[in-house]
Amino acid sequence: MRAWKLMMVSAAWALVLVGCGGGGAEEPEAGGAEGGETSEYGGPIASTDVDHGKEVYGTHCDDCHPDGQEDVGPSLIAEPHSPADLRKQVREGSGKMRPFSPNRLSDDDLEAMLAYLDSIGAVAK
Ligand code: HEC
Repeated sequence: MRAWKLMMVSAAWALVLVGCGGGGAEEPEAGGAEGGETSEYGGPIASTDVDHGKEVYGTHCDDCHPDGQEDVGPSLIAEPHSPADLRKQVREGSGKMRPFSPNRLSDDDLEAMLAYLDSIGAVAK
């Protein structure tokens, strides 16, 4: 009985060790400054609703990036961004551009907006 228990314990311990080892090995990639941060925003554009995206863009972005062009903010067409970079910029903001929380701009609206940005050539391929 005791030996059996001991084996269970060491088996569990081995699992813990393997678990930690695996996680640790991936840490540098996943936790790395840029790669890790953008990967949470990664993935293809999850909408094709360009019309709705245009409305969303008109409401939230057009003042500073009119039709994707430069005004208060830089032109989005002159330097197209990946969907991940666009999501990150919208969610986290930078400089004078404030972040948009999911309360203000839902994920669905954000994806539709990306479809619109894609249609005007502001998404990097
Ligand atoms: C109040 C004005 C304002 C609004 C509204 C705004 N932006 Fe911006 N945006 C800026 C400014 C200013 C910058 C430059 C930020 C910096 O210097 O870091 C910027 C930067 C960006 C960039 C990065 C451009 C680059 O080349 O670095 C993207 C992409 C972007 N905005 C997209 C959007 C989208 C999409 C929306 C709507 C959801 C939006 N912005 C709304 C002002 C705005």
